[in-house]
Amino acid sequence: MKVIKCNNYDEMSEISANLIVEDLEANPQLVLGCATGSTPIGTYKNLIKAYENKLVSFKDVTTFNLDEYVGLETTHEQSYRFFMEDNFFNHIDLNKENINFPLGSGNLDECIKKYQGELDKKVIDVQILGIGSNGHIAFNEPGTSFDSHVHTVKLDTQTREDNKRFFNNLDEVPEFAISMGIKDIMAAKKIIILANGKNKKYAVNEMLSGLKTEEFPASILMDHPDVTLIVDSEAGEDIE
Ligand code: PGA
Repeated sequence: MKVIKCNNYDEMSEISANLIVEDLEANPQLVLGCATGSTPIGTYKNLIKAYENKLVSFKDVTTFNLDEYVGLETTHEQSYRFFMEDNFFNHIDLNKENINFPLGSGNLDECIKKYQGELDKKVIDVQILGIGSNGHIAFNEPGTSFDSHVHTVKLDTQTREDNKRFFNNLDEVPEFAISMGIKDIMAAKKIIILANGKNKKYAVNEMLSGLKTEEFPASILMDHPDVTLIVDSEAGEDIE
């Protein structure tokens, strides 16, 4: 795993966006795996800036997203679909038909089958990832099989606690989500994983410890041939 240690969130966001811009320049038909959460917002801001400055176009790009809450309509302000539109998709020239997104409402078995089918037709060139304070990647919580594909997940108490800041209270945080599996994430050609802030330090250290266990989903990333970890000074405090 290649590690880039930055001074702060802005630097982390700029460096990650620059890596994606380079990939887009080399391949305008890039298949980009997107993540939600607080971590990648700055990366999206920088990518939007690159688009506005005419450095890149997204018109031939295809996107896949990692996960979605179960029970929230796509128009719900806390749905991940809404998040992506608000923070990224609505500000670039992405063809809406090239957006692939798991749906968390309706018949879930159908939602899983449909999304897996879409994923299986493409190979993700670059996957952006955050990491949960409990080591989850996407919504693959501790204990998820490394062989998992798209599936429904019961969210960990820690994850619901971490995400309640976006809702009025804990009760409003959905209990279930639909998520790409770990095997799907590992199939990406390249992964950029971002971590910032003190509350990610433990997760970063565990991941880098080299102990591979399904109890810490991000530990599998050490086996991937092309992962770049970009951390700020707080999440990366213990990295030499
Ligand atoms: P965060 O979430 O970016 O909001 O910290 C990361 C994650 O849960 O993967």
